Amino acid sequence: MTITEFERQVLRQTAVGAGHYDADYFAGEWRAEGNKYDLETRRQIEARNPALIKEVFQPRRVLDLGCGPGALMHLLWELGVDVDGIDFAESSRHLATPEVRGRITIGQVTDSTLKPANAYDLVICREVLEHLTVLQVKQAVANMVRMTSTFVYVTTRFHPNPSTLLDFNQKDDLDPSHITLLNKDMLRLMFVLEGCRSRPDLESRMDWGGKGRVLVLEKV
Ligand SMILES: C[S@@+](CC[C@H](N)C(=O)[O-])C[C@H]1O[C@@H](n2cnc3c(N)ncnc32)[C@H](O)[C@@H]1O
Repeated sequence: MTITEFERQVLRQTAVGAGHYDADYFAGEWRAEGNKYDLETRRQIEARNPALIKEVFQPRRVLDLGCGPGALMHLLWELGVDVDGIDFAESSRHLATPEVRGRITIGQVTDSTLKPANAYDLVICREVLEHLTVLQVKQAVANMVRMTSTFVYVTTRFHPNPSTLLDFNQKDDLDPSHITLLNKDMLRLMFVLEGCRSRPDLESRMDWGGKGRVLVLEKV
């Protein structure tokens, strides 16, 4: 993709609204393989992730940005981890367990007024960035780096075979709200330009499934 085409595509994107992420989005039957957001389904899907997050990052305070109904928050809470969440969907809080409901702030992932700088030593943002416009991704990256003192752990969907750094897809077969599938290097570049360095050692530990969808950055 040329820079001219990139500019044209970026300026044409429209953000997905919070209303899209209602109870049906999280609990409906539309997902492949019964991949819903209730706690026991997520406990199976998450498998060793919560324990691995605790072991790899040894965090004191964690923020789950775009936490949805807070299943990962609950699983971390079970392990004694101090964890907050942010999500713009009111349904997130309604569907969350009583143990973590009060820890979810309703707001945009791009909002730099919700939490103080360096408030957390680990910011997690999983399966969220593909739901944002490119411009929102840039703002969310800056916000994550602002809120963490140490680590950012991201999973997202990437362009499967980009031929330039600028290439991004605006849809896939999984979810109609997947509107931005970046080149993985482009997302890494956004973090580097906010003052982060890559941690390939931690990235490979978190990517135990070998899917290549994990980024781990350290704020320097
Ligand atoms: C696919 S879900 C992922 C939920 C959770 N992180 C997980 O991995 O299970 C995407 C989440 O991103 C949230 N989201 C999307 N755009 C957002 C925005 N601009 N601000 C805040 N939350 C957003 C949605 O409400 C939804 O909960």
